[in-house]
Amino acid sequence: MTTDTSRHVDQSSSQAVGLDVVILGGGGHVGLPLSLALAQAGLRVGIVDIAASTVERIGRGEMPFLESGADELLAQVMPTGRLELTTSADMLDRTKIVVVVVGTPIDEFLNPSMTVFQKTVDQIAPHLQPGTLLVLRSTVYPGTTEYIAKALADQACEVDVAFCPERIAEGHALEELSGLPQIIGADEQAAGDRAEALFRNVTPHIIRTTTKEAELAKLFTNAWRYIKFAAANQFFEIAHEAGVDYTSVLRAIKTDYPRARDLPGPGLAAGPCLLKDTMQLAAFTSDHFGLGQAAMQVNEGMPAYIVSAMEKKYGDLRRRNVGLLGMAFKAESDDIRSSLSFKLRKLLLWSGARVLCTDPYVSDSRLLPLDKVLADSEILVIGAPHQVYRQADLRGRKVVDIWGLVDGIDL
Ligand SMILES: NC(=O)c1ccc[n+]([C@@H]2O[C@H](COP(=O)([O-])OP(=O)(O)OC[C@H]3O[C@@H](n4cnc5c(N)ncnc54)[C@H](O)[C@@H]3O)[C@@H](O)[C@H]2O)c1
Repeated sequence: MTTDTSRHVDQSSSQAVGLDVVILGGGGHVGLPLSLALAQAGLRVGIVDIAASTVERIGRGEMPFLESGADELLAQVMPTGRLELTTSADMLDRTKIVVVVVGTPIDEFLNPSMTVFQKTVDQIAPHLQPGTLLVLRSTVYPGTTEYIAKALADQACEVDVAFCPERIAEGHALEELSGLPQIIGADEQAAGDRAEALFRNVTPHIIRTTTKEAELAKLFTNAWRYIKFAAANQFFEIAHEAGVDYTSVLRAIKTDYPRARDLPGPGLAAGPCLLKDTMQLAAFTSDHFGLGQAAMQVNEGMPAYIVSAMEKKYGDLRRRNVGLLGMAFKAESDDIRSSLSFKLRKLLLWSGARVLCTDPYVSDSRLLPLDKVLADSEILVIGAPHQVYRQADLRGRKVVDIWGLVDGIDL
């Protein structure tokens, strides 16, 4: 059943009309900004997403998550009728270009879950027209594009396949889609040319590679960022254990010294991509990606480091009220996927503290208003460095702030 929830599309008249591109997973953090950008460029875009509530929200003209500039763009695109939404893969029958951008989780062994792609092949194969261009945009384990091309060939689907990774920073997708170069990974000239033509609708900057080069380029990009955060976090821990003010060390390192410009500050390195993609590389090397696995130890160990340092500084935390400010995985975001604030909360609870959580962007009935948390907490911990906490009156409370958002670290 096709449940087209867009109020702005005449379902009966549009049903037979072809679509320039259909995005599978088009309601997600990567798929939706791309769908909007392509529709803005004048293409007729279809979104297929299994999350019915997401499809309904977008159909009502509501963004399902925070994304800079996307509310305005959605409002601009919907009345054009160039964006259609459905939960049914039947929509794929109406196009010759399909982009797949479903989530690619790791499993309980920290290995990529290949079942996602086995299921995707079974889902899309009956609907692919001969000569369709299939663009994979999810971040994938190396060799996945080739695997999918073969799996589709086994089902007698004649398709061109390309891998075109997304490299945006969540929350900044729309500006980065046009500003960043797009890597086009293809093993056949025709597939690469067709994918390049698609992405030239959003950016003039194109880089051509093979599929496996593009798959590795994407994973290396994320692992590199994750390792940099780990270096920053371990430097912080070394200085902190030595009783040295790391903010001052960082300022000394970075001031007017171009070679250290990309050293980040310490923080909770979390979110849906960096750890997952570093672990995909670990799986690819049969668990011989020492740098990546060490980065995981440092970054995932940061919440435990903070709690143990708090116990050293403040003594027994049992029955003490600790306010946790910011539950999203990063600043100015409403995304809680793989947020280390939740690990921090769990470890604080294990230490016996009463933990009061707040976040202005996250809607969760267990969270409390900032005022209530400030009023009732003895110690505050910054989980996500939202700007609002920099401006808030923290009422002279101790603030455990490894991010350097407010003055002093109190750890
Ligand atoms: N979030 C980011 O900043 C980011 C950046 C670059 C790359 N990526 C990669 O992009 C991929 C998607 O990430 P995301 O953050 O957009 O995830 P997401 O969970 O926000 O979006 C995925 C969407 O796919 C839908 N979906 C899942 N299975 C489906 C299916 N079989 N058919 C139709 N729809 C389906 C979900 O309902 C969801 O709306 C991942 O591989 C991720 O690693 C994410």
